[in-house]
Amino acid sequence: MFEVLGRTEGKVTAFRMLKPDDWHQHMRDGDMLKLVGPMVSKRFYSAIIMPNLTPPITTAQQAFEYRQRILDATEPGFIPLMTLYLTDGLDPEEVRKSHNAVWAIKYYPRGLTTNSDSGVKNPADLWTPGTKPYDCLQVLAEQRGVLLLHAADGFDRAGAELDPYDQEKHFVMHTLPEIIKAHPRLKISVEHLSTKWGADFIVTHGGEYLGCSLTAHHLLLDRRDVFRGGFHPHRSWMPVIQPPEHKEALRHLATADKPFVWLGSDSAPHPRVKKEAACCASGVLMAHAGIELYAEAFEDMKALDNRFERFASLNGRKFFGFINDHMQTIELVREEWKPQPLFYAESGENLDVSELVPFRLGENIRWKLAA
Ligand code: DOR
Ligand code: ZN
Repeated sequence: MFEVLGRTEGKVTAFRMLKPDDWHQHMRDGDMLKLVGPMVSKRFYSAIIMPNLTPPITTAQQAFEYRQRILDATEPGFIPLMTLYLTDGLDPEEVRKSHNAVWAIKYYPRGLTTNSDSGVKNPADLWTPGTKPYDCLQVLAEQRGVLLLHAADGFDRAGAELDPYDQEKHFVMHTLPEIIKAHPRLKISVEHLSTKWGADFIVTHGGEYLGCSLTAHHLLLDRRDVFRGGFHPHRSWMPVIQPPEHKEALRHLATADKPFVWLGSDSAPHPRVKKEAACCASGVLMAHAGIELYAEAFEDMKALDNRFERFASLNGRKFFGFINDHMQTIELVREEWKPQPLFYAESGENLDVSELVPFRLGENIRWKLAA
């Protein structure tokens, strides 16, 4: 389906592709959702909606109501795929009840990222029979739902606090193998993979039951970009952006054409005041250029071809069992543009708390969505 529509001096200048899906999207709620919703539905056919609202989405009823608010804020036809937030108290019966309302359950290690205070305190509960998180995952596996992992450990087994740059490494080496061993028939997606250790693990063990999503920012940036000339709060996420060799490993994985690797933007907007604060909130809006930034990364990786379409539009839906052979397409043209500041509060009374800084504010983005 991927079709080149224009080429100048060997460079692709326009192309058409199957409308992609975003397997990791923070659409937020309220006024922010109204701003972000159309950005997402213009570019994506469907999206997995993250449940880390305050309070988090922990019941089928909440997921159902949130889904309706998303439908109200997006273009007709867009399909929000809902998720539940795994807490220490989530009842396996609620997971059973949610069968028709949710596609996945999200694991957050407590305290390691935005709105993760309700996350699981003890990662060992994921593989220890008799705990509620374990039982929830058993039910999820029966239902063929997907466990979405924020793959980070806060502490090593001796209880020492880990460096943020080592959190994914520790998880992949010590926690993920235990989860897989305890739940061999559970589909697991390692979210926003960010390290070479993660990439090695996925290449070795990826398949029908294990895959990963990749963000555009982890493919485009490395740690030098975050600290060049000072710290850049608008290039700050969890998991952290790692040194260059990790970006190279992720790029290698993205272009290796593996069916267990797919797009998950982790677009995660925060008001400007929360980013430029004493404690910078992790996460940045990517939805304003949610597919364009990936096109840039894939062009840089010399893989702007069928491989891009499989990564963005086919691999994820197969893994998640989202059987929906739509034929909708989008077109992208090679035309530079600069993102502008965004304002989301309807009242607009307090611009300080209602301004959003999109990724690459005032800088060039190389690809543009054709109207
Ligand atoms: O950078 C991040 N922002 N990482 C997460 O895991 C959560 C997200 C958010 O919700 O802001
Ligand atoms: Zn996220």
